[in-house]
Amino acid sequence: MATVLVTGGNGYIGSHTVISLFESGYDVVIADNLANSKMEVQKRLKTICGRDFKFYKVDCCDEKALSVVFEENRIDSVIHFAGLKAVGESVRIPLDYYSNNIGSAITVCKLMKKYGVKNLVFSSSATVYGMSEDVPFTEESPVGICTNPYGWTKWMIEQILRDFAVSEPSMKICLLRYFNPVGAHESGLIGEDPRGIPNNLFPYISKVAGGTLEKLTVFGDDYDTPDGTCLRDYIHVVDLAEGHVKAIQYLDSHDAGVCLFNLGTGKGTSVKEAIAAFEKACGHPINHVFGDRRPGDIAVCYASTEKAEKDLGFKARYNIDDMCSSCWKWQTMNPEGLADD
Ligand code: WQD
Repeated sequence: MATVLVTGGNGYIGSHTVISLFESGYDVVIADNLANSKMEVQKRLKTICGRDFKFYKVDCCDEKALSVVFEENRIDSVIHFAGLKAVGESVRIPLDYYSNNIGSAITVCKLMKKYGVKNLVFSSSATVYGMSEDVPFTEESPVGICTNPYGWTKWMIEQILRDFAVSEPSMKICLLRYFNPVGAHESGLIGEDPRGIPNNLFPYISKVAGGTLEKLTVFGDDYDTPDGTCLRDYIHVVDLAEGHVKAIQYLDSHDAGVCLFNLGTGKGTSVKEAIAAFEKACGHPINHVFGDRRPGDIAVCYASTEKAEKDLGFKARYNIDDMCSSCWKWQTMNPEGLADD
């Protein structure tokens, strides 16, 4: 059985990916420093999968500590999620973002080289497309016009990985650019569990629907879009997780080098449409007001899915109603999120 090391595997996307990997017949080892997740996730994964996964509490910037994972396990592939990922926070503490996100990626690459692990999937983001208006974004759309340090770290790491692949011709690296991951596992046992007040739309709407936040402010309804609110490509986190399994399988069956895929649905949903869909899921109105635009937001962002469908065999299965209903189940089952460690 092939073994995949999932760094950041205790986090939102990482934990859902652990389940998809397990269900696809892979063994999984998790490395996570618990900076943005709780150990309760491991208990929930055991309930869902019926087994424990080897877990290492480790900072992926710590080469000595992370090397233990490679010493103690025969790793066939790595999926590197570990990193800081809040856009607004990255503007406030950019040095932490650059040192942590870039440092952890470099450390993972150094250890993969040392231990002869060739297959790497990297968690990148549609944020690298920045303020471009070239929608739908294809993998060839202009990048590197990022609007925040978080996005710049993703863009820089993509470049570092390309250079690493040139220096190590046997490496196989897949860059996955996510659009907007939302929703939760069908069990309602794991889901997006941000610390404090959520920055992103769906966890915020979910808490308003659940009564733990008073109202949603819609950041601008004067955009050049059909209903005046921004369009985004929301993709169910379980679809995203399955896209990672496809990427691992793609690397297993293709030659060395770097490949790049968007993971989205190819459909733009407005904020107003998202609110309406969530109201349908929860059965009551979502209290919301309209406020000023949020600096750095672009009006329209959604993926061209052609390349992922053709080359990766990936197509998102879930629609916005599935995303909302799964999000609502997670919210009602875990109104205060998971218990602290
Ligand atoms: C979506 C829309 C807001 C909150 C970010 C990152 C991206 C990815 C996903 C990691 C926008 C509006 C939001 C609120 C609102 N993360 N909104 N009121 O900004 O598209 O993408 O998260 O990879 O990299 O950039 O997501 O959910 O913050 O915003 O009106 O309280 O909802 O203006 O139009 P975003 P978001």
